Amino acid sequence: MHALDWHLVNSPHVEALPARLLRPRARANADARALALATWCLRRKSDGRFLATYDGQRLHALRHGLAREPGIGDAVAAIEAAGTPGGPPLPLAGLEDRLAALGLDASYGEDTGLALVPEPSRLEFAGFDRFRRPLWLREPAARAWRRMQRAARADGIVLDAISGYRSHAYQLGIFERKLARGQTMPEILAVNAAPGYSEHHGGLAMDIGTPGEPPAEESFEATPAFAWLRERAGDFGFRMSYPRGNPHGISYEPWHWCWRPAAPDDASPANA
Ligand code: DAL
Ligand code: ZN
Repeated sequence: MHALDWHLVNSPHVEALPARLLRPRARANADARALALATWCLRRKSDGRFLATYDGQRLHALRHGLAREPGIGDAVAAIEAAGTPGGPPLPLAGLEDRLAALGLDASYGEDTGLALVPEPSRLEFAGFDRFRRPLWLREPAARAWRRMQRAARADGIVLDAISGYRSHAYQLGIFERKLARGQTMPEILAVNAAPGYSEHHGGLAMDIGTPGEPPAEESFEATPAFAWLRERAGDFGFRMSYPRGNPHGISYEPWHWCWRPAAPDDASPANA
C-alpha cells in the first residue's frame, strides 16, 4: 500500500488512525495484540488518549468505560463512510464552548481578521515529523510537501515537519498547557490562533524546521533552509502566512507555511 493511502478519519470527538502506524508505541501486551490485529486505533481528540482498536467489525477497549465514551459510534460510522477523500468538513460543533473556556467569543475573528477553519473529515499521512509522530495533511498539501522536501534535499537542504494538522480540541489544549505554565492570554494569542481559527485545523498549513534549529523560533529565519523556502516554496504552492507586520496580530512566524491551490492565472502559458 502506498504511504499516501494511509489516512486519519475524523469525527467530532474521536479520530481514527491506522493501527499499523502505532504498533511500535504499544506498551501492554494485550494492547499490542489488539493493535496487531486491528485496522484502526481510536483516539480521544481532547487529550490524545487511545480509547479502542477497531478491526472493521469489533471494538477492543484500550481503556475502562468505553461504553460511556462520547463519540465512539460517530467514529465507527465515519470509518465506514470514509471510502472517498474530499468529503464535507466537520461541523463547527463546540466552537463557542472552546472560546468561552478561554474568555473569548466570536468577536475574536472580527478583531484579528482570522477566518474560522473547519476540520477536514479525512487527512492523508504525509510522513513523520521531527518527533517521529505521523504528520497529517490534506492530500494536495501532503503531496506538495513531499515533493518540496525531495527538491530541497536535492539542493542539499533538509526540511523537517514540526506540526501539520491540529484539531480544534488540540489547539485548546495548547492554550491550556501554556496558561498552566503561567503565560497570559495576550502572550499566547500573539503566537497561537484561538481554537477554531488556526490554519493548522484545515490540514493545509504546517510548521517547517531544519535539523539543529529549535522548533518554531525566529532564528529559523537565518538558516539556509529558510532562504531555500523563500526562494522555492511558492513553486510548490506554499506561502508564509505570518510575515512581519501581518494584519492578524500574530508575531512573525518564518516557520509557518500554508499550501493554497494555484490561482487560475498561474496555469496560463505566461506563468508556466
Ligand atoms: N501559530 C499559528 C498562528 C497557529 O497557532 O495557528
Ligand atoms: Zn504554524
